[in-house]
Amino acid sequence: VYNETESHSAQPSSASQMIPQSIIIGVRKGGTRALLEMLDIHSDIVVAATEVHFFDWDENYEKGLEWYRNLMPLSYPHQTTIEKTPGYFTSAKAPERIHDMNSSTKLLLILRDPTERVISDYTQVYYNRLESHKSVQPIEEIVIKNGVLNTKYKAVQRSLYDFHMSNWLKYFPLDQIHIVDGDTLIRNPLPELRKVETFLKLPPRIMASNFYFNHTKGFYCLRNDGRERCLHESKGRPHPVVNSTVLAELRAYFREHNERFFSMVKKSFNWH
Ligand code: A3P
Repeated sequence: VYNETESHSAQPSSASQMIPQSIIIGVRKGGTRALLEMLDIHSDIVVAATEVHFFDWDENYEKGLEWYRNLMPLSYPHQTTIEKTPGYFTSAKAPERIHDMNSSTKLLLILRDPTERVISDYTQVYYNRLESHKSVQPIEEIVIKNGVLNTKYKAVQRSLYDFHMSNWLKYFPLDQIHIVDGDTLIRNPLPELRKVETFLKLPPRIMASNFYFNHTKGFYCLRNDGRERCLHESKGRPHPVVNSTVLAELRAYFREHNERFFSMVKKSFNWH
């Protein structure tokens, strides 16, 4: 017998593509992929598979909000849609554009030690260049130019969290930007994810049993619906050993910026 109510509630047509209620804005190499994949375990969260680059790339932004919405996964009304594009955090235009779309968008920002982030950023570019048979320079030669710290180096600039954060705080109140500690997420993911669930006002559904430590990879991997998987091999690559003087110069440069950042966000982190 045809039962209208039942057949309607079972219809996938009640699922639709929504603009994200929450966005992971960065930072590049902060652990954005790990955060997105881990949040995807939650049954009330759906995630965009690829980086969308809507708010930071003019040629995409000009395509309009419908173009953006069409890149989002199907979701049911009780679900939260999340996309991640690490370039948003350091984009001058992204804060205002996201605010224009929806001023109540919940922002997620995952950060790690700024010096460690520079090395991770360098390592990614290093591998990309190796793969396309381009020459690679040691990190020390890029970071130090003519005996002084090369503050023009993009990877260094991206680690000036105070500078970028001040841009976001022009448009969003601090309590609408949840900061995930990327160093902690590596070592012990669950407590950091619990805080995100609370921030997104979702019931706690991600469990310790969703993670297992993979000793070969040296990182936590994911277990969900009976499947086990680690992040892509480009995530969690060994870093080069960096000359200790260069490391000390980077740390000294970031120290003041970090202090400013801590007072801006009313929270401090265990960065060197
Ligand atoms: P490294 O590859 O330098 O170690 P992003 O996704 O933003 O590019 O960040 C990549 C970083 O995520 C990696 O940097 C790694 O340290 C971190 N990460 C956090 N949790 C991870 C996990 N469970 N598996 C792999 N990498 C993880």
